[in-house]
Amino acid sequence: MGLAIFLILATLISTSDAESDAFNPIHLLRPRSGSGGHRVEGLDCLSWRLAVETNNLQSWKAVPESCENYVGNYMLGKQYRHDCDVVADAAIEYAKSLKLGGDGKDVWVFDIDETTLSNLPYYARTDVQFGALPYNGTKFDEWVAEGKATAVPAVQRLYKTLLSLDIKPVFLTGGSDTFKDIRTANLYAVGYHSWLKLIFKGEADKGAALLYKSKKRTELVNQGYRIVGNIGDQWSDLLGDNAGNRTFKVPDPMYYIG
Ligand SMILES: *[C@@H]1O[C@H](CO)[C@@H](O)[C@H](O)[C@H]1NC(C)=O
Ligand SMILES: *[C@@H]1O[C@H](CO)[C@@H](O)[C@H](O)[C@H]1NC(C)=O
Ligand SMILES: [Mg+2]
Repeated sequence: MGLAIFLILATLISTSDAESDAFNPIHLLRPRSGSGGHRVEGLDCLSWRLAVETNNLQSWKAVPESCENYVGNYMLGKQYRHDCDVVADAAIEYAKSLKLGGDGKDVWVFDIDETTLSNLPYYARTDVQFGALPYNGTKFDEWVAEGKATAVPAVQRLYKTLLSLDIKPVFLTGGSDTFKDIRTANLYAVGYHSWLKLIFKGEADKGAALLYKSKKRTELVNQGYRIVGNIGDQWSDLLGDNAGNRTFKVPDPMYYIG
């Protein structure tokens, strides 16, 4: 753990100036290649992931082929869970600091896929390859219909804390309401059992995710609710109208939704 952070820092700090290696021992610790490193075939996959998480890269269609192993190791290894824990810890600290209205109108918006529920068992399949293969909606829908998504443990921890603070969860997903029953059952099965609203995308809800979610959040605000927090894995969950007093981004290097 400590070494991993050191190596990452060493990589971030180091320059590509080979000559300076001789004068700066930190450069000698830089991962060079293979599974321990992340620079494969010219693309630095950690830099790619950082650019994805910071919304500097947008509208990308698939994980770069050369980063499939990197993304797979990240998602299945400790780093993804640790990164989610840091986000949840920050959100919990913030939530506990709030002076609430005490009128049941304080709400927290949760995205579902890769936030509340994890589709990692699907993304780890060899015919999906952590998002390195082109998105196949039919295939993904078949997975959703199985109702076997797992919880994201850190986000579930946040969810339970919010319930104890009497901040009401609102689940807002861009997923279709044709999966309403199976998704509701899936949420229950993994330990989500209480919410103010569970909002799916219906026939009448046209438009891109950012606009759709803005519209639904505005409806909440117009009904008198105060969105004190908002958590999602896509920037389109967190940008736009009435995004909430604070937003929290959990990692997702597997796909982009605009
Ligand atoms: C998408 O997945 C479905 C179901 O597995 C499959 O029948 C179809 O051939 C796939 N489409 C493409 C373009 O790969
Ligand atoms: C939360 O955001 C709303 C709307 O922007 C604002 O009126 C309110 O003062 C904010 N609350 C806190 C605690 O910052
Ligand atoms: Mg999502």
